[in-house]
Amino acid sequence: MIYLDNAATTLHKPPEVAEAVKNAILTTGNAARGAHGASLSASRMVFETRSRLAELFGCPRADHVVFTANSTEALNIAVYGLISAGDHVISTDLEHNSVLRPLYDMQTRGAAVDFVRADRRGNIRYEDMEALFRPNTRAVVCTHASNLTGNMLDIARIGAMAHAHGALLVIDASQTAGAALIDMQKMGIDVLCFTGHKGLMGPQGTGGLCIRPGVELRPLLRGGTGVHSYDREQPKEYPARLEAGTLNGHGLAGLHAALDFILRQGAESIGARERQLMRRFYEGVRSIPGVTVYGDFTAPERAAIVTLNIRDYDSAEIADILAEDYGIATRAGAHCAPRIHEALGTVQQGAVRFSFSFFNTEEEADAAVSAVRELAEE
Ligand code: ALA
Repeated sequence: MIYLDNAATTLHKPPEVAEAVKNAILTTGNAARGAHGASLSASRMVFETRSRLAELFGCPRADHVVFTANSTEALNIAVYGLISAGDHVISTDLEHNSVLRPLYDMQTRGAAVDFVRADRRGNIRYEDMEALFRPNTRAVVCTHASNLTGNMLDIARIGAMAHAHGALLVIDASQTAGAALIDMQKMGIDVLCFTGHKGLMGPQGTGGLCIRPGVELRPLLRGGTGVHSYDREQPKEYPARLEAGTLNGHGLAGLHAALDFILRQGAESIGARERQLMRRFYEGVRSIPGVTVYGDFTAPERAAIVTLNIRDYDSAEIADILAEDYGIATRAGAHCAPRIHEALGTVQQGAVRFSFSFFNTEEEADAAVSAVRELAEE
């Protein structure tokens, strides 16, 4: 199979990741829940994983890296932990439902939310965002890169804007963590939400938040933390404040190994390789008659995603043919990103998304171009 659905999850991981998960299942105790060897080694591994993520993302404190099951859980913690009735929030049309649905729910609970509109290329205008700030704007919650078009937002610019208006910046880094430069301090990110199983190349069921020291998030869940057991309240200190219950130690062991690989390779060089493959595919398909490519390919920075349609064929039908007849895995449909499909005019047809990873090859990109050309010529 030629796997080009890396924006959904990376299938090909560094071999050390599976090895680490297997070893953890055979040896790992419960982190922060005991003083015997199996628990202590789990605690050490978990702390090292926090440290590696803090290093990768420029988070000033490793104990402000909190683990969750995925970026959806992280974003729910960020939204419900920061936003209250009476607050105003700014977001964008580029968002995934993991941002949209918590924000829509907050609208029913008395918060006001404005969305910066995207144009037909999937871009927003930063002046439009600037115009939306109000005295009660609590936060901007937005993605680093659209999971549909791959278009990236200028996070440093948004961070400066948010802080000038006294608001916080919460970023959904689902499509960029591990494959783009992310520096919380330089970019002005207050809460960074990430998943472990995409660009970070770790197992599914891992993810989390990196929190700037000083940002206070209310917990979403309450329960055992292994510390302060006689207190009725959740501990105030991070990470225990937001981590109720046993962590996914087995998954985190895989993420620990994946991060070792990523820090050795460098996220920017991984991203450069992915973008090289994405551009090769884009150059191959962009001029094929009958093919419509969505998004903006003029910006130097973008995620390694090319989304297209072939004439007016249903996107799910094209993805099925690609899978069945060509052995190429893509993702069709709505991609849990309704507002950007509305902006692009692809609600009825959906779109076929090709997303590249460090482990794809030029031959795979070329085979995908040939498949698209054949389908467009049929
Ligand atoms: N959110 C993931 C995607 O874009 C699953 O496909």
